[in-house]
Amino acid sequence: MEIDAVDTAPSKVDADVLAFAVPDPVDLPPKAQEIDGLLEGGLGHLIEDGELKGKLGKTTFTHTEGRLAAHRVAAAGVGSPEDFDADALRTAAAAVAIHAGEVGGKSIAWILDGESSTLSAAEQARAIVDGTVLGPYDAGRWKTGENERRHAIERLVFCGPGAPALAEDAQRANVVVSWTNRCRDFVNAPPNECTPAQLAEWAEETAGRFDSLSFEALGPDEIRSAGMGALAAVSQGSHNPPRLIKLSYDPSDAKGDLVLGLVGKAITFDAGGLSLKPADRMEEMKSDMGGGAAVLAAVGAIAELGLPVRLLAVVPSCENMPGGHAYRPGDIITALNGKTIEVTNTDAEGRLILADALWHARQSGATHIIDLATLTGAMVVAMGDYYAGLFGNDEDWLRTIRGAAEASGDHAWIWPLHETYRRYIDSSFADMKNSSDYRQGSPILAARFLEEFVGEGPWAHLDIAGTAYLERGRDDYYDRGGATGYGVRLLSELARRLSAT
Ligand code: BES
Ligand code: MN
Ligand code: ZN
Repeated sequence: MEIDAVDTAPSKVDADVLAFAVPDPVDLPPKAQEIDGLLEGGLGHLIEDGELKGKLGKTTFTHTEGRLAAHRVAAAGVGSPEDFDADALRTAAAAVAIHAGEVGGKSIAWILDGESSTLSAAEQARAIVDGTVLGPYDAGRWKTGENERRHAIERLVFCGPGAPALAEDAQRANVVVSWTNRCRDFVNAPPNECTPAQLAEWAEETAGRFDSLSFEALGPDEIRSAGMGALAAVSQGSHNPPRLIKLSYDPSDAKGDLVLGLVGKAITFDAGGLSLKPADRMEEMKSDMGGGAAVLAAVGAIAELGLPVRLLAVVPSCENMPGGHAYRPGDIITALNGKTIEVTNTDAEGRLILADALWHARQSGATHIIDLATLTGAMVVAMGDYYAGLFGNDEDWLRTIRGAAEASGDHAWIWPLHETYRRYIDSSFADMKNSSDYRQGSPILAARFLEEFVGEGPWAHLDIAGTAYLERGRDDYYDRGGATGYGVRLLSELARRLSAT
C-alpha cells in the first residue's frame, strides 16, 4: 500500500473514499461538519433518519455527487468515547477499508481528529494504517474463483494541516503490518505446503533481500550432532525433516551491547505424536508454527525499517507426528544444555524444541531473550483471543515488553512464575519431565519448564495459543477466523523502543 500525507483541505483530496471517525452517540467532528456543509446537509439528514450511527465497526457511505474531490464519504463509527482506544480506531479503519473494497474503491483518505481525541495524531495514523491493511486481509488463497475475495487498499492518504508530520509514523506502521500479513499467509498455509524446509526457504529469501541479515539452517543430522536432543526427538516421527532456522541482523549503526534474542516455536503440524490429539479441530494445529512465523516476519520488518538494534532469531521447526520412528512417552532425552527430560506426554512438544532453541540463542550471544509459542491449550481457555500470557524472570524486561505489547495492539498480560511450581515437573528418573499428571496451572508449568533452559540474563515467554490463530472472528479488525500475525507488531515495536534508548 502506498501512503501519502498531505496538507490539503479534505474536500480537495482525490480519493475513492474520504473517511472520518464518528462517536456513539453521533457527534460530527468540526472537519466533518465542514464536509456536511459542502454536501448541503446530506450527513445531517442521514443522522436525523437514524442511518448514520457511531456504533463501533459500522460505517455509513454516501456519494458526494461531485461536490468534493473524493467520490464517496465514509462516516466510521468508533463507539462510545469512554471505550475509545487505538483498537476501536483500527476496527473503524478496517470496516471502511473492507466496505470500500466491496464497492471497488482502491484509495482512502482519512481526516484525523484534532485536540479532542485521547490519541495523538501519530497514534491515530498508525491505528488507521493497521486497520486498513489488516482488516481486508483474505485467507482464501486456495480458492480457485477470484470473485468473492477481498481486495487490499492500494493508497491511503492522511490529509489536513499537520498530516505531513505523520508520514514517517504511518510509513513505519505500513511496513510492519505488511509483514504481519505475510506472517498470516504462512500460518494459514496448509501443513502439506508449509513444511520446516519451506519455512527455512522463506527465511533465506528474506535474508537475501537485506545486506544486514544473514541466514543459516541446520538439518536433521546437524541438529542431532550439535546435541539438540530435544528437537531431534520431537522431529524423528515425521518424514518431513526438521530445521533449526537462524537469522542474524547486524546493522552497522547498532547501538550498545544489547543483542535481542527472538525465539519462536514452529511446529508445522502438531498431531500430538503418540499422545495423539483428538480429531476434532486437529486441522487448526497447522497454526502451531505461529510463534516462529512471527519471529521471522518481525526480523524482516525490523531489517526493512533499518532499526539500529542487533537481533538473533532462532526458530526450531519440525512436525510432531505419530509413527514407527516417533519418540515415545517414557523416553528420556538429553537437551542441548545437558539436562535430561523424561517425556511423559509427546503432545507437550513445544517446550522441548524451545528448550534447545533458547539455550542455543543464549550460547550464541543473545543478551535479552523473548520467545513466542502457541504453547498450551489452557492459555486459550484462560485468556481467550485478545491477550497473550506473558511470563519472565526479570521485572524490567517484562515491563518493557508489556509496554511494547500494549502500544502495538498485540496485547499481553503478565502471569506469575514462582519456584513452587518447579515441583510440578519433578521426575523420578530424570532432571525433569515435560508434563505433569495434574491439569493445574499448565501455562505456568510450561513456562517454568522453559526457564530451565534460558541461562543467565533476562528472558520472557509469550504463550500465544489463543491470539495467534482465531477459531472465529473477534468482531474487530480481525473479523474472521484464522491467523492474526500476532507478535510481528509487538516485536517490531519492542525493537524500535530498544533502539531508541
Ligand atoms: N500446540 C499445543 C497447544 C495449543 C492447543 C495451541 C490449542 C493452540 C490451541 C501444544 O503443543 C499442546 O499440545 N499442549 C498440550 C500440553 C499438555 C499435553 C501438557 C496442552 O496444552 O494441552
Ligand atoms: Mn502439542
Ligand atoms: Zn504444539
